[in-house]
Amino acid sequence: MGPAWSFSGERAMAIGTALPYRRGMTAIRNIVILTGAGISAESGLATFRGPDGLWEGHRVEDVCTPQALRRDRALVQCFYDQRRAALNTVVPNAAHRALARLDREWPGDLLIVTQNVDDLHERAGATRLLHMHGELNSALCEGCGGRMRWTGSLGDSPSCPACQAPRLRPDIVFFGEVPYAMERIEAALARADLFVSIGTSGAVYPAAGFVQVAHHNGAATLELNLDRSDGSGMFDESRLGPASVLVPRWVDEVLGS
Ligand code: OAD
Repeated sequence: MGPAWSFSGERAMAIGTALPYRRGMTAIRNIVILTGAGISAESGLATFRGPDGLWEGHRVEDVCTPQALRRDRALVQCFYDQRRAALNTVVPNAAHRALARLDREWPGDLLIVTQNVDDLHERAGATRLLHMHGELNSALCEGCGGRMRWTGSLGDSPSCPACQAPRLRPDIVFFGEVPYAMERIEAALARADLFVSIGTSGAVYPAAGFVQVAHHNGAATLELNLDRSDGSGMFDESRLGPASVLVPRWVDEVLGS
C-alpha cells in the first residue's frame, strides 16, 4: 500500500500510512503548525495548566489582564521580568530544532504560529514564525503604541525610546485583548492542506478553534501532545507523547528521511 499523501513536487511525502484520515494521494503543499507551552516544557519552561503550572502562584486575572496591569503594575511587570530573565537559562530542545529543520527544508508554504512568548523557535532557527500572543523580548508603549525589542527589565519604568513616556508594558496579549496577526493566520488556515497542533491544551481561543477552521477549509489535522487535550476529539489523528520525541519523528516522516 502506498503512502496516504504525496507532495505534488519532486519530494515524495510518505506521512500517514497508518493515519485514519487518509484521503488517497492528496497533495500536501501548505502546512500550518500551532505550538503551545508543551513544546517548551522539556527546555525547562513551565506550562500554564500543569500541576506546577505558571499560574500556580498567581491567579491569571492577577498577572495576565489589562485590569491587573492597572491595579498592580509592579506585580505584573515583576512577573514578566522574571520570565524574561528565565529565557537566558533555557535552550531550544529537539522539537524546536526539528520544526526549524522543517522550516528550512519544506518547499511549500509553511507557517509556525506559536502561542508561546519565549524565543526558543527562533533561537532554533525557525523563520516562518508568528507570535500570536506577543513576545517576552518585546515591549509595548502605552503612550505611542510602538513595539520594540526589549531584553531588560520593565519594572523600573524605563522611558519609551520613541516617545519618552515611561509607559512601557510587556508586549504580551492579555486575556481580553486581540491576538496579533489574526488576518495572516486566517489566510494561512484558509490555504492549509495540513494543520498540526503541538503541545497546547486547546483551552484558549481563538487558537483552540484553529483546528475547526482548518478542517472546515479541507485540511487534514494532526495533534502531537503529551496527553489528550480539550480539543483532541476534533483532530483527524492525535499522537500522544513528549514533543522532543514526537516532533522529530513526524518531521522525518514529512521530509521523507
Ligand atoms: P497549557 O499549559 O494550557 O497546555 C500545555 C499542553 O502541553 C498540555 O496539553 C500538556 O499536556 C502539553 N505538554 C506538556 N508537556 C509536554 C511535552 N513535553 N510534550 C508535548 N506536550 C506537552 O499551555 P498552552 O496551551 O500553550 O496565553 O496555553 C495557551 C495560552 O494560555 C498561553 O499562550 C497563554 C495562556 O493563557 C497568554 O499568555 C496570552
